[in-house]
Amino acid sequence: MDIARALEVADFERAAEASMAPQYWAYLAGGAGNGGAVRANSDAFGQVSLVPRIAMEDCSSPATSRRLFGRILTMPVLLAPTSPQRLFHEDAELACARAARATGTLMVVSTDSHFGMDQIAAAAGGAWWLQLYAYQSREHVERLVRMAEQHGAEALVVTMDAHFAARRFGTERAGFVTPAFVDFSIMRSIGVEGKPGAGHARIARLPLTWKDVEWLRGLTRIPVLLKGVLHPDDARRAVETGVDGIVISNHGGRQLESASGTLNALADIAPAVPSQFLLLLDGGVRCGSDVVKALALGARAVCIGRPYLWGLHLAGEQGVAAVLALLAAELRGTLQQLNLPGIDAIDASIVRPASSPHFWSGYRSMEVHSYA
Ligand SMILES: Cc1cc2nc3c(=O)[nH]c(=O)nc-3n(C[C@H](O)[C@H](O)[C@H](O)COP(=O)(O)O)c2cc1C
Repeated sequence: MDIARALEVADFERAAEASMAPQYWAYLAGGAGNGGAVRANSDAFGQVSLVPRIAMEDCSSPATSRRLFGRILTMPVLLAPTSPQRLFHEDAELACARAARATGTLMVVSTDSHFGMDQIAAAAGGAWWLQLYAYQSREHVERLVRMAEQHGAEALVVTMDAHFAARRFGTERAGFVTPAFVDFSIMRSIGVEGKPGAGHARIARLPLTWKDVEWLRGLTRIPVLLKGVLHPDDARRAVETGVDGIVISNHGGRQLESASGTLNALADIAPAVPSQFLLLLDGGVRCGSDVVKALALGARAVCIGRPYLWGLHLAGEQGVAAVLALLAAELRGTLQQLNLPGIDAIDASIVRPASSPHFWSGYRSMEVHSYA
């Protein structure tokens, strides 16, 4: 596929599937069980409609930049942590980090990355956060945090929804095994040997508790976010624990079969936490209007997972950049059609349930989520 001719992100998906080894595709696309939570994510976006305004101020060049922990991003779309990216392209995380940097956004780098943290940090030019999986012991986790500090990670994203391996029937049926050419340099550099992937005796992750979160919070001055929050009570607890934000996520539907769609979870969580508390969302974001829907329901930014891996597979750094550029263009186009001058003008009044008014519980009562 000529990536410059892609009309929509789904074009990258079709082309990537057609050109990828079936077992890698099964791993990339896979969801827990038979994929119920993957479908829940995309269904949730389909269940929300946008309500345009008219006659606002000039909307010909809508403003899309967003500040996160002092860094101004050109748009509120980040690269979610994924691994192993080496399955999809030999440049793996380096290509993604460069594309994120070139586009003016940032990459959340997985603990399970192929390349070393020093190489990825250099490619990212400062625009990166570290996603944290806790392996083996607190000593290993502390080493990882110190390394992230040393290499300039601007936030830590602690994944809370993948302590235990999930069954993914499609991936298992395809016989996916992490191939030998995939390395886990970051893990090795903190002294964790072995492979975390499917088809191997998986290295156990520490099942983190709130006590561990408090410990982690006290360990570093880097902002800490919890990833994998779906329940409003957990969001409230995250606020109390003093973390800097949460990523509302079901791991792209890859962990709990039948997990709720993340947009539904966002609509329940946003009214439950203080309006300045940082909410990010991932799962099923595939176009500019999805970004707008998430922002309208209270997310400060979204992350994408599979879409940039499709681009990575097709054309390395250029492919990732092409996916991001398409989303940026769609975001601007959606804002123009909504007659909004920029993302700061998005609020809950521009979304409504497409069908049932009972689609989410917080909708009628929610206040506009406003960040200082
Ligand atoms: C192939 C693949 C690998 C992933 N690896 C990780 C990971 O290493 N750490 C993590 O926290 N989440 C991981 N995730 C979950 C993503 O961070 C993110 O939550 C999800 O992909 C978002 O959904 P989307 O793919 O529909 O955009 C992975 C997802 C995919 C598809």
